[in-house]
Amino acid sequence: MLNSEAERHPFLQGLSKHRGAPPTVIVIFGASGDLTARKLVPAIYNLCLDNLLPPNFFLIGYGRKDVSDAAFREGITKSVQTHSRRELNADIWERVKNSAVYHRGDYDDDSAYKGLSARIDTIEKDLGRDVQALFYISTPPSVFKPILENLGASRLARRHQNSPCASRVVIEKPFGSDFDSARELNQVITEQFEEKQVYRIDHYLGKETVQDLLVQRFANSIFEPLWNRRYVECVQITVAEDLGVGSRGSYYEQSGATRDMIQNHTMQLLSLTAMEPPVSLDPEAIRDEKVKLLKAIQPLNPNERDGDVVRAQYDEGLIGGKKVPGYKQEEGVAADSGTETYAALRLSINNWRWAGVPFYMRSGKRMARRVSEIAIQFKRPPGILFGDAERFDLASNTMVIQIQPDEGTTLLLNSKIPGLETRTQPVKMHFRYRTTYGSNTPEAYERLILDAMIGDSTLFIRGDETEASWRLITPVLEHWQSLGPRGMGSYVAGSWGPLASEQLLWRNRHEWRRAGP
Ligand code: NDP
Ligand code: BG6
Repeated sequence: MLNSEAERHPFLQGLSKHRGAPPTVIVIFGASGDLTARKLVPAIYNLCLDNLLPPNFFLIGYGRKDVSDAAFREGITKSVQTHSRRELNADIWERVKNSAVYHRGDYDDDSAYKGLSARIDTIEKDLGRDVQALFYISTPPSVFKPILENLGASRLARRHQNSPCASRVVIEKPFGSDFDSARELNQVITEQFEEKQVYRIDHYLGKETVQDLLVQRFANSIFEPLWNRRYVECVQITVAEDLGVGSRGSYYEQSGATRDMIQNHTMQLLSLTAMEPPVSLDPEAIRDEKVKLLKAIQPLNPNERDGDVVRAQYDEGLIGGKKVPGYKQEEGVAADSGTETYAALRLSINNWRWAGVPFYMRSGKRMARRVSEIAIQFKRPPGILFGDAERFDLASNTMVIQIQPDEGTTLLLNSKIPGLETRTQPVKMHFRYRTTYGSNTPEAYERLILDAMIGDSTLFIRGDETEASWRLITPVLEHWQSLGPRGMGSYVAGSWGPLASEQLLWRNRHEWRRAGP
C-alpha cells in the first residue's frame, strides 16, 4: 500500500537520481533541540517511508547532555509520533531507529570530535565501504564557529575529499546577524570546507510552491513577455504569521522580523520572482542570477518619514477570537524592547527589466492570518470602454502565487456581470495544489535533506548571496539600532500591520492587497 502510494505521488516521480546517494551518516549537532524534534527527524522518517534514504543510512545525534542511545531512540520516535505529517509505521522506522546513536560532547571539545571520527570509522569498518558524513548544524548560531573549526581540526571536514563520499555540512539560519558577521562566518567555512561541500539552509527554498515559481515563470510562454516594467505596476510579497514569538522571545529579541524573515525568506522569494532566466537549471546558474538581482537593488533609505522601510511591534489584540498579549509582555522580551515584530520595505531594482517598478515586502508576527504570497499586479487597462473617469472600476489583473497555506496560483481578471448593462467585476481563476496533486505534499526539510545527501545545492544559498542580501539590509538595521525603541510603530495583534506600512504604498498611489486566495 505504502509503496504504491509512494509510486503514485507526483513528488516521487522522476526522483530516481535521489536513490543514488552513497552510504550516509547524518550527524545532527543540537540533537536535543526544537528544530531536530519538529522538523529534521520527521523529515528523515518521511524520506525513509518513501524509500528515499540510501540503503545504508545512519544517524548520530550530538549534544552536551548525557543521553543514552536508548533514550535518544525513544526521543526521536516520539518526535515522529508528534510531528510527522504521516503516521508512524513502526516496522519501517525500525531501520532508522536501530541505526541511531547519541554522541555526547561539548561543541568546542576536540576530544569529542576525535570520538565522533572514531565512531564513523567503525561504521565504515563494519560496513566494509566508505560512508559520506553529512554534518547538520542545528544549534544556536553562537556555536556555529567552534563546530566548523573542530570539524576542520579533526579532519572530519576532509574525509574522502574529492570522492563521492566527501563530507558535507548543512548550516541552519540565521547566517550571521549583519554583513560583517556573515562575511566572517563565510571565511570560517571556507577555511574548513570547499564551497561545493557547504549547504546553507533557507527552508523556504524547499517549499514546493517556491520551487514551482521557476516552473511557472520559465515553463510557460504567456507570462515572460509580461514580466517586466512595461506591464507590471508593482509586486507585493507578504509573509505573514498569526503566531507570536511563543517560547522564542529571547532569540527573537536579538533577531526581529528583518533578520528572522526579511533578510532570508522574503529576499529569496524576491530573487526568484525578479531574476533573469538562468542559462540552465544548474545550481550555479540559478545562484548567479539571484546574486545579480540582489546587486541591482538600490540601497534603502531608512528614514522614517519618507524612507523605504517601516518597523513596528504588536500590541495586545485578538487572534481567532482569543485575546493575546503584546510583544513586550511575551516571555523573554524586555519591557523597553526595540525589536521589530513587523517590517515592510519598498525596493527599487535598477535593471532594464524592473526600473520604475516598486517591489513591496512585508513580514510580521501576530498578523491577521498566516499567509505567504507573491502578488504580481499588472498595469490597469485604459478605462475608455467600460466606464468614464469617475466610474472607472476595472481591477488590476493580478497574479497571486500562494506559497502557503492553500498553495496555488490565482489570476484576477475582469469579467462582465450577466445582465443588460455592461458592468464589470473582478473574478478569480484558481489553480490549487490540493485539488490537482492531493494535500499531503512533502515538507521543505524532506526535500532539503534529500538534496544535501545527493549533493544537489540548487535549493541552498551560496556565500555571496547571503552577503549581497546582508549588504542591503545592514544599514537599515544599524539605523534602527541607533534609534532604539524611538520611532518604533505599533499594530494591534490580529491586524494587517501599522498605518505607516499603508502610507509607504500610498506614496506611490498603491495599496496592500488583502492577502489570501
Ligand atoms: P535550540 O535552542 O532548541 O538549540 C538546539 C540545541 O543546541 C539545544 O538542544 C542544545 O543542545 C544546544 N544549545 C542550545 N543553546 C546552546 C548554547 N548557548 N550553547 C551551546 N549549545 C546550545 O535551537 P533550535 O532547535 O530551535 O534551532 C536550531 C537552529 O535552527 C538555530 O540556528 C535556529 O536559528 C535554526 N532554526 C530553528 C527553527 C525552529 O523552528 N526551531 C526554524 C528555522 C531555523 P545540548 O544542550 O544537548 O547540547
Ligand atoms: C523561521 C523563523 O525561519 O521561519 C520563524 O525563524 C518563523 O520565526 C518560521 O516562524 C516560519 O516558517 P514557515 O515555514 O512556518 O512559514
